[in-house]
Amino acid sequence: MPSNVASVLSRVNSGEGAAVARLCDFLRIPSVSTDPAHSKDVAHCAEWMVRDLRTMGFNAESVPTAGHPMVLAHHPGTQAGAPRVLFYGHYDVQPADPLELWESPPFEPCLVDGPHGKRIVARGAVDDKGQVMMFVEALRAWHEVAGGPPCPVTLMIEGEEESGSASLEPFMRSHAAQLACDVAVVSDTGMWDIDTPAITTSLRGLCYLEATLTGPSHDLHSGMYGGSLRNPINALASMIASFHDADGRVAIRGFYDGIPEPSKEVLDSWTRLGFSEQEFLAEAGVRHPWGEKGRSCLERVWSRPTCDCNGIFGGYTGVGAKTVIPSKATVKFSCRLVAGQDPERIRQLVEEHLRAQVPPGYSLEVHSHGVNPAIHVRTDSPYLKCATRALRQVFGRDAALIGTGGSIPAVGSIQRILGVESLLVGFGLDDDRVHSPNEKFEVKCFMNGTRSHAAMLAEFGAMAT
Ligand code: BES
Ligand code: MN
Ligand code: MN
Repeated sequence: MPSNVASVLSRVNSGEGAAVARLCDFLRIPSVSTDPAHSKDVAHCAEWMVRDLRTMGFNAESVPTAGHPMVLAHHPGTQAGAPRVLFYGHYDVQPADPLELWESPPFEPCLVDGPHGKRIVARGAVDDKGQVMMFVEALRAWHEVAGGPPCPVTLMIEGEEESGSASLEPFMRSHAAQLACDVAVVSDTGMWDIDTPAITTSLRGLCYLEATLTGPSHDLHSGMYGGSLRNPINALASMIASFHDADGRVAIRGFYDGIPEPSKEVLDSWTRLGFSEQEFLAEAGVRHPWGEKGRSCLERVWSRPTCDCNGIFGGYTGVGAKTVIPSKATVKFSCRLVAGQDPERIRQLVEEHLRAQVPPGYSLEVHSHGVNPAIHVRTDSPYLKCATRALRQVFGRDAALIGTGGSIPAVGSIQRILGVESLLVGFGLDDDRVHSPNEKFEVKCFMNGTRSHAAMLAEFGAMAT
């Protein structure tokens, strides 16, 4: 065991109460990046992090961008010749809506009893404030025991991840020298289960669009006009229905072109994980699977693309009834993308698919909310071996190598701009209600994650040449 790590881990253990209290302070700041009404809170949240990191000897600042600030912090580390670590995470959160479904207010963190002990309930608890704080707490323990981490550490903590990361790449290009590193560490994904850590090796990409179909010049009485012209909501609904065929495949021409099949080795390793589709769906309150025919549930979520509506509106949505044929109808929808799919090409194919169905004389406006490609991480890197050893120390078992259906645009940016691979070591669980009311993070996961980061830093330090 590399020197110091035992004392660092015991420092983590004895600091549990204070660490949870600090996380709760962080969670109290409503850093909702997509909502301009919260932009002061977002900035305040960045400053909160900067202040905390400075107490640990970091050179930290909240750097303004065209959007929300980036937290950038650096520590030279205590050991010469150790690999440089870049930690990426995000301090912004999703909106809390629908508010009425929360059992406690989203920005008043609560410690609640669950089957695995206490859990922290708040917006951002696991995505991603709790996971960012695991790394910060590991740094704090290293600071207290050894005067700093054993390797040079840079943190880049974003405030726009949940709203499209528009400023991330410009920031990375203008700060590339300060971000230079040998390995990136990201904690914004999940574990296999509460006792089994995981390293995520693939992320899906995303192509998010919003389409508005406009027909009549104004809303019409549905008795006077109903039956005489195409209703924009009905027309849009049939366009949406044409996204899929009866086999659950996306019916957009060219959508699957160029997608590779996972190797037999990868598929076999997924089979060995012992995944239960039934349990997975039960967590969502669903009993009957649906999806692309001939594909397993893990393939459907990890290695196959999708096209899903995220929101739909038009016409009368208030209480009671109003007989109206609306002038407009809108859908927000997104495609999860996999290896082999070029996000820009998919955007075009989807748009063409919709345009071909616009009723004569009607107009369609399509707006892109951003695209990013799927990511695969190399599994043969020495850093991944370090992480595996550290996780084994903490959990007493090997990490599962998994995929995920979610997207983290920064991982692609880090690959393209810095030429560096990311280690995706996350500590969320499937039942954490990410992006949903009553989001939570198990204290057990938070503490094991903190211990894992402390041990990973030790392993990286031990690579010093
Ligand atoms: N942490 C998630 C990504 C994630 C979710 C990873 C579930 C693993 C499991 C991240 O904060 C997120 O929500 N990403 C967005 C990206 C989008 C806003 C560009 C996503 O996946 O929808
Ligand atoms: Mn996240
Ligand atoms: Mn998220």
